Amino acid sequence: MSDYALLERQLAALLDERDPLTNCAQTCAFLMQEVPDLNWAGFYLQRRPQTLVLGPFQGKPACTPIPFSQGVCGAAARSRATQRIDDVHAVADHIACDSTSRAELVVPILHDGEVWGVLDLDSPRQGRFTPQDQAGIEALVAIFQAQTDLERL
Ligand code: SME
Repeated sequence: MSDYALLERQLAALLDERDPLTNCAQTCAFLMQEVPDLNWAGFYLQRRPQTLVLGPFQGKPACTPIPFSQGVCGAAARSRATQRIDDVHAVADHIACDSTSRAELVVPILHDGEVWGVLDLDSPRQGRFTPQDQAGIEALVAIFQAQTDLERL
């Protein structure tokens, strides 16, 4: 189990400017390095209405764009609630970018009443993300939001 309190302090120190692209890139690189058993970590951004467009990420090239109506990322954007999936094979409209992905955690990022984007984490290990991981990653997203000028994108 990761020490999320430590990761929070490290991420807060890493995000030392407020540029959204810089902070997306740094955040997903940091997560990929520090959180065990991930095969993909990245951002999808609402660059067009009701559409998630691939942003900075670490891992294999990924699917884009993703409409709000599709997949686990779309469900997070639609519902504005974190999606924590133990086994993506059990999700009918899961979008398989990489067949090795098994568990997924998608945290929506809201700004001014709109979905700004989502943070998406994938793992090859079924059941990888516990409720404690969800709370820890949501706390890291809160730091990202507090330290980023989201309207500058
Ligand atoms: N599996 C996601 C698509 C994004 S990739 O995992 C990078 C989904 O169903 O929305």
